[in-house]
Amino acid sequence: MTELHDRFGREFHYLRLSITDACNFKCQYCLPDGYRPDGKPRFMTLDEIRRVITAFAQVGTRKIRITGGEPTMRKDFSQVIELAANTPGVNTVATTTNGYRLAANAQRWFDLGLSQINVSLDSMDEGLFRQITGDGRQQLVLDGIEAALDAGYRRVKINVVLLKDLNAQQLPQFLDYIRRRPVDIRFIELMETGLGQDYFQKHHVSGQVIKQQLLAQGWREDPRGPDDGPAQNFIHPDYAGRIGLIMPYAKDFCATCNRLRVSSIGKLHLCLFTECGIELRDLLGHDDHQPQLIARLHEQLRLKGATHQLHQGLTGVTQHLASIGG
Ligand code: GTP
Ligand code: 5AD
Ligand code: SF4
Repeated sequence: MTELHDRFGREFHYLRLSITDACNFKCQYCLPDGYRPDGKPRFMTLDEIRRVITAFAQVGTRKIRITGGEPTMRKDFSQVIELAANTPGVNTVATTTNGYRLAANAQRWFDLGLSQINVSLDSMDEGLFRQITGDGRQQLVLDGIEAALDAGYRRVKINVVLLKDLNAQQLPQFLDYIRRRPVDIRFIELMETGLGQDYFQKHHVSGQVIKQQLLAQGWREDPRGPDDGPAQNFIHPDYAGRIGLIMPYAKDFCATCNRLRVSSIGKLHLCLFTECGIELRDLLGHDDHQPQLIARLHEQLRLKGATHQLHQGLTGVTQHLASIGG
């Protein structure tokens, strides 16, 4: 079957699949008041998720990252891992989590077929972690990262949303952490969301401030591989881990875009910055609809734009990341 590609020759072997909007943390930049259901449609069932995964796998998806909200809050999270891992064609199952269930489950999830984990950890300082995430369980998250390293995951990455006057001065603490741990720490520039401009203006800072410090301390850029994600990575001979910078507002960010997204309510998003997704749910109720579902994916891919158009007047406001899975 023809694999998914767009008019610009980009191929899409990577699906970011959100399975819930719910989250138990209250990150200032994401869900400052905590998760509120707001009467939205219910999240996809396990059967609907299976149909999404099967259809995407048939048109070339090889990697599936399970996202949220906090994906591990779903009671059937383990079953989603199994489903994805057992789908022919899928060779990598990953997740992005706040880490609160990792210490207890890292090994079990690994045994079920999960192979890559990204964990959000916005500060090495316990008080600041609590301030940013609204949650005091930093030690549990740190224990979870150790458990993942012990379990043998191929990649463990830590996500840090870079925040002026909060964690932007804490590069030294993060560097200490990766001196002996083979972990990637990625600083993500704060993206403007539906939360409004105030928070963004107060705390947004360019990833260049981190880049300058790294270069001054002997870190060197690690050339990007063809299947690499959005991060620009840096390496240093004295460190076991790497530092990555994710700069979504940078001009060349989209040229290597290799990913598609399906939200927890079954909408296809061709870009992180597209406002409303494309409905798939009407085709997720029966296995018989798979051919139409696949036809719709091909048809929509032809409409994907070259870039997110942030440099042509769009605001760069993405919706709340908890509902599209980042
Ligand atoms: P891997 O390459 O599989 O490790 O994925 P990743 O680094 O993209 O995964 P993760 O879920 O940890 O996302 C990290 C951050 O990158 C999130 O804040 C995302 O919002 C951001 N991001 C990921 N993909 C894109 C993208 O296509 N466009 C933009 N603008 N940002 C992205
Ligand atoms: N800007 C940048 N990153 C964000 N994330 C959530 N909201 C934002 C935002 N406004 C990050 C989380 C998580 C990843 C999936 O997205 O910290 O690591
Ligand atoms: Fe939850 Fe992740 Fe949003 Fe934090 S960034 S509130 S952990 S969904």
